[in-house]
Amino acid sequence: MTERVAVIGGGLMGHGIAQVFAMAQHPVTVFDADARVLETVRERVRANLAQMDADERVADAIELCDALDAAVADADLVVEAVSESLELKRALFKRISETVAADAILASNTSVISIGEIAQQARDPGRVVGTHFWNPPYLVPLVEVTQGLTTRLETVQRTMALLAQAGKQPVHVKRDVPGFVGNRLQHALWREAIALVAEGVCSADEVDTVVKQSFGLRLPVLGPLENADLIGLDLTLAIHEYVLPHIDSTPAPSPLLRELVERGELGMKTGRGLREWTDREADEVRSRLFEHLVVATKGKR
Ligand code: NAI
Repeated sequence: MTERVAVIGGGLMGHGIAQVFAMAQHPVTVFDADARVLETVRERVRANLAQMDADERVADAIELCDALDAAVADADLVVEAVSESLELKRALFKRISETVAADAILASNTSVISIGEIAQQARDPGRVVGTHFWNPPYLVPLVEVTQGLTTRLETVQRTMALLAQAGKQPVHVKRDVPGFVGNRLQHALWREAIALVAEGVCSADEVDTVVKQSFGLRLPVLGPLENADLIGLDLTLAIHEYVLPHIDSTPAPSPLLRELVERGELGMKTGRGLREWTDREADEVRSRLFEHLVVATKGKR
């Protein structure tokens, strides 16, 4: 399969998604409304490839296009990765759906917005699907392929086949639920982590140590549901009966989180968030993460 791929939005996610398909030898075109972003796409892809010890010439095969209609004209798959705004995405899908071939797949990389709502004004919403890549898309294997209310199953199946062929691990998310699967799980954990800090049970640093030095070590080889079956569902039930009433279930962001944001304590970018950060410490976290992902995904790319 050498489907032609058009990526709309060449920012943080878009340039990485273009890299994924270019590495799998698909012809890739990128369009971004901001000419300054567009002109650095190949440069950023080249830098990623160099860091991964991969062939930097892959970046040269990515075509840059300064007009939306021309970028999508020949595409078999369009992946939208523009800023997270429903109005913007809805208008874009309407316009793209009026330009592309009738059998082209239109995919959105939205992290949280409903695929059905994005597809609402598109010509033939049956071919609109969610493809939620994780950052950085060229290293993290998973792509959540979300089937909106109007998405045809055939669209999901073709998208999953294409992603698998490009070396990704697609998972079919059968209902268009907010946050899909990964972010729901992730933010359930973050809510409890923030609550433990707010209640003075542990510092932010200590909560992270608990995770990294215990069940975090098991997660790459043992998912939570495998773990439940491993310890036994009778024990899982007993634990849930005792502990669930004490776990935070507030259906709103933590007051501590709101307070920190109001004070301008936004995390690494301001030097202080749930804990203090020097620029050096923040850089160390970023390179530690990148190096870990390179090692952890070697042989899976
Ligand atoms: P970004 O801000 O880095 O890139 C967005 C790009 O879209 C910008 O370069 C902007 O110029 C361009 N753009 C805006 N309007 C446009 C239009 N009408 N036509 C063409 N280009 C346009 O944002 P980022 O982080 O890459 O996010 C893109 C999408 O991916 C969002 O929906 C976001 O929620 C989602 N996402 C982001 C993740 C992350 O870790 N940053 C992870 C997974 C999904």
